[in-house]
Amino acid sequence: MVKEKLNIVLLGGPGAGKGTQAEKILEERSMEHLATGDILRDEVDRGTELGKKAKSYMDKGDLVPDELVVNMVKKRLENEKGYLFDGFPRTTNQAKALSETIDLDHVVYIKIDKSEAVRRLSARRVCSDCGKIYNSLFKPPNRKGICDECGGELYQRDDDKAKVIRDRFETFLDETAPLIDYYEEKGLLVGVDGEQKPDEVYAELQKAIC
Ligand code: AP5
Ligand code: MG
Repeated sequence: MVKEKLNIVLLGGPGAGKGTQAEKILEERSMEHLATGDILRDEVDRGTELGKKAKSYMDKGDLVPDELVVNMVKKRLENEKGYLFDGFPRTTNQAKALSETIDLDHVVYIKIDKSEAVRRLSARRVCSDCGKIYNSLFKPPNRKGICDECGGELYQRDDDKAKVIRDRFETFLDETAPLIDYYEEKGLLVGVDGEQKPDEVYAELQKAIC
């Protein structure tokens, strides 16, 4: 029987395809998408206190401090639907804080290596209006620089520069990769090969979360 309300974490390094796979999941399931990187970028763009504090960490490829991120997420946990966490938790402290509020059903670890992350992210473009993700190498828009869905302008994220991508990958290995064992021990982890085509990754992921 399909469980209606699932809480799912998408875990993976930069460029693993968390946002891309989240889009596909949300086409089929009604869930609350909580992508902490997207929320933080919005705070930075709006010049909020949180955004001002977060920016220097994000620009260097470091993690924003746990306390700020956990408070930001907890404020949003009031929904009746299941949650799709994208890029959260990213440290053991964040995982413990989340477990005080939510019971997770699945943690999907999307695995790619560093050279693939650099290749993909250098070519990523994102719609400034609807957030749809493109890639000038693998998934170009029909018209250069313009979103196919909403006509919005595509932009390159500030942290998608080769040096920062490599620093983000190191941060992932140091601070987030320990969550692989953490969730494995809890019996929640499923690994998928992120270096296949997006639809193939999704097919594997779907089997894991049904
Ligand atoms: P965040 O925005 O979460 O960045 P990230 O984890 O580095 O992940 P990305 O968004 O870069 O990659 P993705 O896995 O979503 O890949 P995508 O689908 O876009 O975080 C940014 C920053 O915010 C962090 O560095 C940190 O400072 C801060 N932050 C966020 N959360 C935090 C937290 N919890 N705690 C503390 N700090 C936090 O795909 C990438 C590209 O590849 C796209 O162009 C896509 O089209 C392409 N692509 C995707 N899948 C495939 C495929 N299978 N084959 C070929 N191309 C593909
Ligand atoms: Mg993302």
